[in-house]
Amino acid sequence: MNRLQNKVAIVTGAAGGMGESIARLFAQEGAQVLASDIQFDKLLAWVQEFQKGSDAIECIQHDVASESDWQKVVEKTLQKFGRIDILVNNAGIYQPMETTEATSLERWNKILNINLTSAFLGAKTALPALKKSGKSAIVNISSIAGIVGGNGAPYSASKAGMLLLTKDQAIEFAPFNIRVNSIHPGGVMTPMVEPILPTDPAILDGMMKAMCPLGRIGEAIEIAQGALFLASDEASYITGAELVIDGGMTAR
Ligand SMILES: NC(=O)c1ccc[n+]([C@@H]2O[C@H](COP(=O)([O-])OP(=O)(O)OC[C@H]3O[C@@H](n4cnc5c(N)ncnc54)[C@H](O)[C@@H]3O)[C@@H](O)[C@H]2O)c1
Repeated sequence: MNRLQNKVAIVTGAAGGMGESIARLFAQEGAQVLASDIQFDKLLAWVQEFQKGSDAIECIQHDVASESDWQKVVEKTLQKFGRIDILVNNAGIYQPMETTEATSLERWNKILNINLTSAFLGAKTALPALKKSGKSAIVNISSIAGIVGGNGAPYSASKAGMLLLTKDQAIEFAPFNIRVNSIHPGGVMTPMVEPILPTDPAILDGMMKAMCPLGRIGEAIEIAQGALFLASDEASYITGAELVIDGGMTAR
């Protein structure tokens, strides 16, 4: 408890999946959280139920690909909580089979804008406040698709871009004691992948046993625990690092 006491965090893509798990865990650990998502009603529904009268989490509708939306998010966070110590760039989109051949330029730009340019815009817009914090952290949710191929060119390129965006900003922001790290989940059960997984639990089980040394799909909370560590002062000497959370999938 209280591993994020007195910290203010922005978490994007928080309407469900990993973003929801991260926002919930951060609030349970004492942070004040600005939770954002393009799906505002879905976000508001769990936050209202979770808070029961407290106001540790503030919600805002947010398209992470929009610079003007980022300005509103940062302004609202400062207005409501007065500071920003943590930025989690989590929002993203994925569809299977988005190969080079099958992808239009418009679709390529959309994936890159939501999955990668968003993290650049977030860091750039929050930077003055993160500098002021004196001890702040950015956590970028990339993917094992940013390390190994096979998940479609635009998605892989966006997630690999996130890896080096992280390392470059880690160097650029180090003089301000802003740490920047990335997380690389493997398969995790969230609304993003649920519709594309086999519905038969025995088939899913067999598939995961074949692909993953730990033999199962990950849970959103297992990614949130990694984000909590990297965002907290326990990771005070960790920057520019990539934390792979994939049950060993990329260890082979
Ligand atoms: N689930 C997995 O197996 C897996 C594996 C590796 C990486 N990831 C990455 O983890 C992150 C979280 O994914 P998830 O699995 O929780 O998926 P999810 O679909 O449950 O959550 C993603 C959230 O991002 C939001 N979003 C989409 N476009 C947006 C936009 N333009 N502006 C603001 N919000 C937007 C969605 O509304 C959604 O709530 C993503 O970046 C994803 O690429 C997921």
